[in-house]
Amino acid sequence: MKEKILERLRAKPGVYVSGEEISRDLGVSRTAIWKHVQSLKDDGYEIDSSRRLGYRLTAVPDRPLPAEILRILRSRVFGQKIHHFHSVGSTNLVAREMAREGAAEGTLAVAEEQTQGRGRLGREWLSPAGTGIWMSLILRPVFPPTDAPRLTLAAAVAVAEAVGEVAGISPGIKWPNDLLAGGKKFCGILTEMDAEMERVNFVILGIGINVNQLASDFPEPLRALATSLQEVCGHRVSRPGLVCRVLECLEDRYGQTVSGDFGQVLTAWRARSTTLGQQVTVTSAAGTIDGLAEDVDSDGSLLVRLDSGVLHRVMAGEVTLRRN
Ligand code: BTN
Repeated sequence: MKEKILERLRAKPGVYVSGEEISRDLGVSRTAIWKHVQSLKDDGYEIDSSRRLGYRLTAVPDRPLPAEILRILRSRVFGQKIHHFHSVGSTNLVAREMAREGAAEGTLAVAEEQTQGRGRLGREWLSPAGTGIWMSLILRPVFPPTDAPRLTLAAAVAVAEAVGEVAGISPGIKWPNDLLAGGKKFCGILTEMDAEMERVNFVILGIGINVNQLASDFPEPLRALATSLQEVCGHRVSRPGLVCRVLECLEDRYGQTVSGDFGQVLTAWRARSTTLGQQVTVTSAAGTIDGLAEDVDSDGSLLVRLDSGVLHRVMAGEVTLRRN
């Protein structure tokens, strides 16, 4: 009902639509209409109310609300079912619960704010309200668990492409899946899997994008490392618009990944890589190594040529560029 009322108001932006007319057309009481309008206002829609004239929509919020996403989303499956939260601990945890309860592939959990946003390697991910995209997508790929790292590379490519189109920039990818612009990180991806030996039950693809933060919004120690799209491209970026494009690009790159066309993803990943061809230090649970980041393998691992000449395969870890 709320969506239907919004549709009515959106059809005549800035013009009053009488409460009586809406109530008659939708077959609900004027009190019910009033309550739904209050709820739309809570979502951030700016609606003028007049006893005599009715309601008029004057501004739409830049929030990743289902109604704002679904009206422009052109995907087949990804994001066709959306759970939106004003505030949540972590969308990855919420999505995992939904997946355990049988939620379909492509179901999206998106939050205005995360109070316990999680990053890779057990780190915290700052997710304040009003500025970023914090979302998690449920995937159910039919492939062995060893192929799952491919999804991480596919996601990095897809988000880079979407951001490129929407913000007009060309992001780089730091292995495995940090997106960088101007040498600073604006997006991180946390891929979590629930699997048995032979098969994947589900994968949660968690994506965090700093969209409209100002440099001063980042706490001091992060300011030198983190940035937002607004900082890089010089203007605000529509969050629902970007969520849509990310979902559409993800659907395409995911399709290639699961249908034997992963080579195309790898080519796109290599073209955007800021890691390949560089002298790097890789820190992981297994220790620290130095060498030349020579290539990325089809299982997503980084191939590092050690100074001894040995080619070393890195499955997980933190890469820093070595300055000689
Ligand atoms: C990284 O360390 O680079 C990965 C960051 C991933 C953050 C996203 S925000 C949405 C989803 N929910 C989380 O708690 N984390 C991911």
